[in-house]
Amino acid sequence: MPPRLPIARVRNFLQLGLRTRTMSSQPSVYVTRPDVDASGLELLRKSCQVSTWSETLPVPRAELIRQIAGKDALYCALTDKIDKEVLDAAGSQLKCVSTISVGYEHIDVEECKKRGIRVGYTPDVLTDATAELTVALLLATNRRLFEANKQVFNGGWKSWAPMWMCGQGLKGSRVGLLGFGRIGQEIAARILPFKPAEITYTTRSPRPQEAAAVNARHVDFEEMLRNSDFIVACCALTPQTKEIFNAAAFQKMKSNCIFINTARGGVVDQHALYDALKNNTIQAAGLDVTTPEPLPLDDPLLKLDNVVILPHIGSADIETRKEMSRITARNILAGLVGEKMEAEVIL
Ligand code: DGY
Repeated sequence: MPPRLPIARVRNFLQLGLRTRTMSSQPSVYVTRPDVDASGLELLRKSCQVSTWSETLPVPRAELIRQIAGKDALYCALTDKIDKEVLDAAGSQLKCVSTISVGYEHIDVEECKKRGIRVGYTPDVLTDATAELTVALLLATNRRLFEANKQVFNGGWKSWAPMWMCGQGLKGSRVGLLGFGRIGQEIAARILPFKPAEITYTTRSPRPQEAAAVNARHVDFEEMLRNSDFIVACCALTPQTKEIFNAAAFQKMKSNCIFINTARGGVVDQHALYDALKNNTIQAAGLDVTTPEPLPLDDPLLKLDNVVILPHIGSADIETRKEMSRITARNILAGLVGEKMEAEVIL
C-alpha cells in the first residue's frame, strides 16, 4: 500500500503562501524524459506545473541547464548528470531531485545535501525485475542462447550434434556475487533452485542472517575470483568498486568462469574484459551494462562470440517501470512539502 500522497499538503503549502508566489502559482517541476509512464506525471500535474523534455533521447545538457532555471523540483533519470553546474543553474529554490532509478551515481548527492536539496530514488520496487533479468542473462550466456539462435538463421544448424553448442550448467557450480544487497539476495534466491554447489558473496561486512536464507557464504574478493564458475556483479558503483574487475581480477578467475554484470559498466575495466574474453582467460560474459551506453557499433566487444550484451534493461518490466515513475513523482511531492520521502538517499 503506497503511502498517502502528499498532494493535499502541496496545495496547503501553496495556499499558506509559504513561498513568495502568487496564490495561483504551483511548484514547478522539470521532467527530463517525456516517455516515463504517464501515471507518475499525472500525480505531479495534480498540484504542480510540469514541463518535460520533448524527445525520447536524453535531454541535451545545455537544454537541461536552461530548463532547470527557477524550477522547484527535478524528475531525472540515470542518463542525466546532475552536478554542481546544473544545481547552480537551477537556483536556490530547487528543493528536490528525484531519479527514476535505484542507482544515483549520476547525481552529486553531497553537493545536493550541502544546498539542502533532497534526493529521491527508487530502490526495492525494481529488485525482483533486476534479479530476474540477471538470471535470464546468466542462463543466456552459459547456455549460449544467442550464439545458438544465430545458427538457426545463418545455416550453421546442420544437424543435431552431440557436443555442439554445449555450455556449462549451474548445477554443481560455484556462484560468487559481488554485492549482497536487496538485488544480490534475490539473485541468490533465484539461483538456489538450480542446485549450485555453493553460493558465495563478497561485501565489506558479512550479512549472516540474509546469507543463511539462501545458503550463501561470505568470502573475500580474492577467494571469489579464484573459486567461482560464475561471478555476478550486482553491487553499487562507488569509488571502491570502480573498475574492480580489472586485468588482475580477470587473471585470477578460472578459465571456465562466466562473468555477469547487471550493476554498472563502471565496475569493469572494459579493455581488460575484452582481452580476457578474446584470449579465453575466462569463458564468457553477459553484460546488461557497459561503458559507454549505448555501446558504439564498432566496439570490439561486439565482434566476440563469447559475450552477450543487453541494452541496460535490468528493471525493464512494465509494472516495475510504471511504479518507478509513480515513486519518483511521490518523492517529489513529499520533497516539496518537507515530508518523508518514500525513498530518500541519505548520506
Ligand atoms: C537503476 O535503477 O539504477 C537501473 O540501472 C535502471 O533501472
